[in-house]
Amino acid sequence: MLSIRLKAILDYIEEHDHLADIGCDHGYLLIAALQKGLKFVQGIDNKKGPLAQAKVNLASFLGPQVILTLSDGLEDLDSKVDTVVISGMGGINIIDILSNNIHKAQKLRKIIVQPNTNIYELRKYLNDNGFEFQSEKMVYEKKQYYEILVVKYTGKVNELSENDFIFGPYLRKERSELFIKKWTLILNKLLKAYNPDEKQEELAAKIEIIRSELGGKK
Ligand SMILES: C[S@@+](CC[C@H](N)C(=O)[O-])C[C@H]1O[C@@H](n2cnc3c(N)ncnc32)[C@H](O)[C@@H]1O
Repeated sequence: MLSIRLKAILDYIEEHDHLADIGCDHGYLLIAALQKGLKFVQGIDNKKGPLAQAKVNLASFLGPQVILTLSDGLEDLDSKVDTVVISGMGGINIIDILSNNIHKAQKLRKIIVQPNTNIYELRKYLNDNGFEFQSEKMVYEKKQYYEILVVKYTGKVNELSENDFIFGPYLRKERSELFIKKWTLILNKLLKAYNPDEKQEELAAKIEIIRSELGGKK
Protein backbone atom coordinates (compact mmCIF):
# COMPACT_ATOMS: atom_id res chain seq x y z
CA MET A 1 0.00 0.00 0.00
CA LEU A 2 1.18 3.49 -0.86
CA SER A 3 2.16 5.70 2.10
CA ILE A 4 -0.02 8.72 2.95
CA ARG A 5 2.79 10.98 1.67
CA LEU A 6 3.16 9.24 -1.70
CA LYS A 7 -0.63 8.99 -2.05
CA ALA A 8 -0.84 12.79 -1.62
CA ILE A 9 1.79 13.20 -4.35
CA LEU A 10 -0.08 10.75 -6.60
CA ASP A 11 -3.24 12.87 -6.20
CA TYR A 12 -1.46 15.62 -8.17
CA ILE A 13 -0.60 13.22 -11.01
CA GLU A 14 -3.13 12.90 -13.81
CA GLU A 15 -3.76 10.05 -16.23
CA HIS A 16 -2.54 12.04 -19.24
CA ASP A 17 0.77 13.06 -17.59
CA HIS A 18 4.07 11.76 -18.91
CA LEU A 19 5.84 11.32 -15.62
CA ALA A 20 9.42 11.11 -14.43
CA ASP A 21 10.11 10.31 -10.79
CA ILE A 22 13.56 11.66 -9.90
CA GLY A 23 15.01 9.58 -7.08
CA CYS A 24 12.45 6.86 -7.74
CA ASP A 25 14.11 4.48 -5.24
CA HIS A 26 11.77 1.46 -4.85
CA GLY A 27 9.53 2.58 -7.72
CA TYR A 28 6.31 2.52 -5.65
CA LEU A 29 5.08 5.87 -6.99
CA LEU A 30 5.67 4.71 -10.58
CA ILE A 31 3.66 1.51 -9.98
CA ALA A 32 0.78 3.52 -8.49
CA ALA A 33 0.94 5.96 -11.42
CA LEU A 34 0.72 3.09 -13.92
CA GLN A 35 -2.20 1.63 -11.98
CA LYS A 36 -3.83 5.05 -12.19
CA GLY A 37 -3.65 4.75 -15.98
CA LEU A 38 -0.54 6.72 -16.99
CA LYS A 39 0.82 5.68 -20.37
CA PHE A 40 4.44 6.78 -19.98
CA VAL A 41 6.66 6.80 -16.89
CA GLN A 42 10.39 7.15 -16.33
CA GLY A 43 12.08 6.28 -13.07
CA ILE A 44 15.45 7.92 -12.48
CA ASP A 45 17.85 7.22 -9.63
CA ASN A 46 21.54 7.97 -9.29
CA LYS A 47 22.25 4.86 -7.20
CA LYS A 48 22.46 1.32 -8.55
CA GLY A 49 20.87 -0.40 -5.51
CA PRO A 50 17.55 1.52 -5.49
CA LEU A 51 17.27 1.30 -9.28
CA ALA A 52 17.83 -2.49 -9.20
CA GLN A 53 15.03 -2.74 -6.61
CA ALA A 54 12.75 -0.62 -8.79
CA LYS A 55 13.52 -2.96 -11.70
CA VAL A 56 12.41 -5.96 -9.63
CA ASN A 57 9.25 -4.21 -8.42
CA LEU A 58 8.34 -2.97 -11.91
CA ALA A 59 9.29 -6.20 -13.73
CA SER A 60 5.79 -6.91 -15.00
CA PHE A 61 5.39 -3.35 -16.37
CA LEU A 62 8.72 -2.78 -18.15
CA GLY A 63 8.54 -1.90 -21.85
CA PRO A 64 9.03 1.08 -24.15
CA GLN A 65 6.55 3.15 -22.14
CA VAL A 66 8.08 2.30 -18.75
CA ILE A 67 11.76 3.06 -18.47
CA LEU A 68 14.28 3.08 -15.65
CA THR A 69 17.41 5.18 -15.94
CA LEU A 70 20.55 5.24 -13.80
CA SER A 71 21.33 8.93 -13.91
CA ASP A 72 21.72 12.17 -11.97
CA GLY A 73 18.64 14.40 -11.62
CA LEU A 74 17.21 15.68 -14.92
CA GLU A 75 20.37 14.85 -16.90
CA ASP A 76 18.80 12.03 -18.97
CA LEU A 77 15.18 13.08 -18.80
CA ASP A 78 13.21 11.52 -21.67
CA SER A 79 11.94 14.10 -24.16
CA LYS A 80 8.36 12.78 -23.70
CA VAL A 81 8.28 13.75 -20.01
CA ASP A 82 6.08 16.75 -19.09
CA THR A 83 5.62 16.11 -15.36
CA VAL A 84 8.35 15.57 -12.78
CA VAL A 85 8.22 14.48 -9.15
CA ILE A 86 11.21 15.09 -6.87
CA SER A 87 10.31 13.86 -3.40
CA GLY A 88 11.71 12.47 -0.17
CA MET A 89 15.05 14.26 -0.29
CA GLY A 90 16.57 17.47 1.06
CA GLY A 91 15.48 20.83 -0.29
CA ILE A 92 19.04 21.79 -1.25
CA ASN A 93 19.39 18.60 -3.30
CA ILE A 94 16.12 19.46 -5.06
CA ILE A 95 17.47 22.97 -5.81
CA ASP A 96 20.65 21.42 -7.26
CA ILE A 97 18.65 19.00 -9.43
CA LEU A 98 16.54 21.84 -10.87
CA SER A 99 19.35 24.35 -11.29
CA ASN A 100 21.71 21.83 -12.96
CA ASN A 101 19.21 21.47 -15.80
CA ILE A 102 17.21 24.66 -15.50
CA HIS A 103 16.20 24.77 -19.19
CA LYS A 104 14.65 21.30 -18.96
CA ALA A 105 12.87 22.26 -15.73
CA GLN A 106 11.49 25.41 -17.36
CA LYS A 107 9.84 23.39 -20.13
CA LEU A 108 7.90 21.07 -17.81
CA ARG A 109 4.14 21.40 -17.50
CA LYS A 110 4.15 20.42 -13.83
CA ILE A 111 6.80 19.95 -11.14
CA ILE A 112 5.82 18.31 -7.86
CA VAL A 113 8.36 18.64 -5.05
CA GLN A 114 8.33 17.32 -1.51
CA PRO A 115 11.44 18.40 0.40
CA ASN A 116 12.28 16.79 3.73
CA THR A 117 14.38 19.81 4.79
CA ASN A 118 15.11 23.43 3.78
CA ILE A 119 11.57 24.17 2.58
CA TYR A 120 12.13 27.91 3.06
CA GLU A 121 15.21 27.88 0.80
CA LEU A 122 13.43 25.79 -1.84
CA ARG A 123 10.36 28.08 -1.91
CA LYS A 124 12.62 31.11 -2.22
CA TYR A 125 14.70 29.52 -5.00
CA LEU A 126 11.58 28.52 -6.95
CA ASN A 127 9.96 31.95 -6.74
CA ASP A 128 13.20 33.87 -7.43
CA ASN A 129 13.71 31.77 -10.56
CA GLY A 130 10.24 32.21 -12.04
CA PHE A 131 8.57 28.99 -10.91
CA GLU A 132 5.05 29.85 -9.81
CA PHE A 133 3.32 28.04 -6.97
CA GLN A 134 0.14 26.37 -8.16
CA SER A 135 -0.80 24.34 -5.11
CA GLU A 136 0.45 23.20 -1.70
CA LYS A 137 -0.61 20.39 0.57
CA MET A 138 0.41 19.28 4.05
CA VAL A 139 0.14 15.69 5.22
CA TYR A 140 1.04 13.90 8.46
CA GLU A 141 2.46 10.42 8.63
CA LYS A 142 4.44 8.55 11.28
CA LYS A 143 4.91 11.64 13.46
CA GLN A 144 6.20 13.70 10.51
CA TYR A 145 4.65 16.64 8.73
CA TYR A 146 5.29 16.75 4.98
CA GLU A 147 4.71 19.61 2.58
CA ILE A 148 4.08 19.00 -1.11
CA LEU A 149 4.36 21.86 -3.61
CA VAL A 150 3.26 21.98 -7.23
CA VAL A 151 5.02 24.57 -9.38
CA LYS A 152 5.35 25.55 -13.02
CA TYR A 153 7.79 27.87 -14.73
CA THR A 154 6.14 31.07 -15.96
CA GLY A 155 9.16 33.39 -15.67
CA LYS A 156 7.20 35.62 -13.30
CA VAL A 157 8.77 36.48 -9.93
CA ASN A 158 5.91 37.07 -7.52
CA GLU A 159 6.15 39.45 -4.59
CA LEU A 160 5.92 36.97 -1.77
CA SER A 161 6.61 37.79 1.87
CA GLU A 162 9.11 36.13 4.20
CA ASN A 163 6.15 34.44 5.89
CA ASP A 164 5.03 33.05 2.53
CA PHE A 165 8.44 31.40 2.14
CA ILE A 166 8.44 30.07 5.70
CA PHE A 167 4.85 28.86 5.96
CA GLY A 168 3.82 28.46 2.32
CA PRO A 169 1.59 30.97 0.48
CA TYR A 170 -1.31 28.53 0.05
CA LEU A 171 -0.86 26.66 3.33
CA ARG A 172 -0.97 29.84 5.42
CA LYS A 173 -4.05 31.04 3.60
CA GLU A 174 -5.80 27.72 4.14
CA ARG A 175 -4.74 27.48 7.85
CA SER A 176 -5.77 23.84 8.11
CA GLU A 177 -5.92 22.04 11.44
CA LEU A 178 -2.69 20.24 10.48
CA PHE A 179 -0.95 23.55 9.73
CA ILE A 180 -1.91 24.95 13.15
CA LYS A 181 -0.78 21.71 14.84
CA LYS A 182 2.61 21.67 13.10
CA TRP A 183 3.47 25.27 13.90
CA THR A 184 2.13 25.08 17.46
CA LEU A 185 4.41 22.10 18.01
CA ILE A 186 7.42 23.96 16.63
CA LEU A 187 6.53 27.08 18.66
CA ASN A 188 6.32 25.05 21.88
CA LYS A 189 9.70 23.43 21.18
CA LEU A 190 11.31 26.83 20.61
CA LEU A 191 9.69 28.25 23.76
CA LYS A 192 11.16 25.36 25.76
CA ALA A 193 14.62 26.19 24.44
CA TYR A 194 14.21 29.89 25.12
CA ASN A 195 15.76 31.41 28.21
CA PRO A 196 14.84 35.12 28.69
CA ASP A 197 17.99 35.64 30.80
CA GLU A 198 20.24 34.76 27.88
CA LYS A 199 20.79 36.72 24.67
CA GLN A 200 18.94 34.57 22.17
CA GLU A 201 17.87 37.15 19.62
CA GLU A 202 17.56 34.76 16.69
CA LEU A 203 15.43 32.36 18.70
CA ALA A 204 13.27 35.21 20.04
CA ALA A 205 12.71 36.46 16.48
CA LYS A 206 11.68 32.99 15.28
CA ILE A 207 9.24 32.67 18.18
CA GLU A 208 7.71 36.03 17.33
CA ILE A 209 7.29 35.14 13.65
CA ILE A 210 5.47 31.89 14.45
CA ARG A 211 3.41 33.49 17.22
CA SER A 212 2.14 36.25 14.98
CA GLU A 213 1.46 33.83 12.13
CA LEU A 214 -0.57 31.59 14.43
CA GLY A 215 -2.32 34.65 15.78
CA GLY A 216 -3.45 35.37 12.25
CA LYS A 217 -1.47 38.61 11.83
CA LYS A 218 -0.15 39.29 8.32
C1 LIG B 1 14.86 8.81 0.39
S1 LIG B 1 14.67 8.31 -1.25
C2 LIG B 1 13.06 8.92 -1.64
C3 LIG B 1 12.36 8.00 -2.58
C4 LIG B 1 11.05 8.49 -3.15
N1 LIG B 1 11.27 9.58 -4.07
C5 LIG B 1 10.09 8.89 -2.08
O1 LIG B 1 9.69 10.05 -2.04
O2 LIG B 1 9.73 8.03 -1.25
C6 LIG B 1 15.71 9.38 -2.16
C7 LIG B 1 16.18 8.72 -3.47
O3 LIG B 1 16.68 9.73 -4.32
C8 LIG B 1 17.86 9.29 -4.93
N2 LIG B 1 18.60 10.49 -5.33
C9 LIG B 1 19.15 11.44 -4.52
N3 LIG B 1 19.72 12.42 -5.26
C10 LIG B 1 19.50 12.10 -6.56
C11 LIG B 1 19.85 12.71 -7.80
N4 LIG B 1 20.56 13.84 -7.85
N5 LIG B 1 19.47 12.10 -8.95
C12 LIG B 1 18.78 10.95 -8.93
N6 LIG B 1 18.43 10.31 -7.79
C13 LIG B 1 18.78 10.88 -6.62
C14 LIG B 1 18.52 8.40 -3.89
O4 LIG B 1 19.42 7.49 -4.47
C15 LIG B 1 17.30 7.71 -3.27
O5 LIG B 1 16.98 6.49 -3.90
